[in-house]
Amino acid sequence: MKSEEIRQKYEETAPSYDWKIAVLEKISGADRLRRDLLKKATGDVLDVACGTGRNFPWYSRDCRITGVDLSPAMLDQARIKAVDLGLDAHLLGMDVEHLTFPSHSFDTVVSSLAVCTYPHPVEAIKEMARVCKSDGRLLLLEHGRSDRPMLGHLQDFFAERFAKHSGCHMNREPLELAQAAGIEITSHRRSCSGILHVIEAKPSK
Ligand SMILES: C[S@@+](CC[C@H](N)C(=O)[O-])C[C@H]1O[C@@H](n2cnc3c(N)ncnc32)[C@H](O)[C@@H]1O
Repeated sequence: MKSEEIRQKYEETAPSYDWKIAVLEKISGADRLRRDLLKKATGDVLDVACGTGRNFPWYSRDCRITGVDLSPAMLDQARIKAVDLGLDAHLLGMDVEHLTFPSHSFDTVVSSLAVCTYPHPVEAIKEMARVCKSDGRLLLLEHGRSDRPMLGHLQDFFAERFAKHSGCHMNREPLELAQAAGIEITSHRRSCSGILHVIEAKPSK
């Protein structure tokens, strides 16, 4: 799916995105993983594909947040959240595969539940690494193909149809994609029957 199609999907989804996803995040434990991972964000933070700003409540108030996303409607929701939280977040329409920031701009670069949607996920992760300072860190909370055989096969069966409908590829392999992007993985944990991945990394080996 091309970026324009993905943008269009999220333009339609934006107003109802939060309430639809909240229940799933609670059941899967993604909400707790999000909170625990984002405590580790420091300094100048880039939240790529920030969507409606679901990460915003969990950043330390010392962080300076920049969020980018393809979808203006998702960013509108993120702006509302930032105002409600009293966050001075800088929110921009931008494609994660073509970030306009200079190299080594951010202390922390975050991607949550979005590697499933990028048209070229390896390129996107390489861009995240490029804009991260060499002593900075990449924090990823992603979902992918379960390592439980039955569940993984079920995801394979539905993946294409679901992607056409939602823009989300449910059977991607976030760890393999991060490895292919050449980042240095310092920690990796799976949960929720192997579907959720928490990946901490440095920008290059
Ligand atoms: C499933 S939502 C996740 C949003 C948010 N990160 C979260 O944790 O709730 C995926 C988001 O990725 C954005 N997105 C997809 N491809 C993108 C790209 N190439 N560049 C920027 N944003 C993108 C979509 O517009 C959407 O807001």
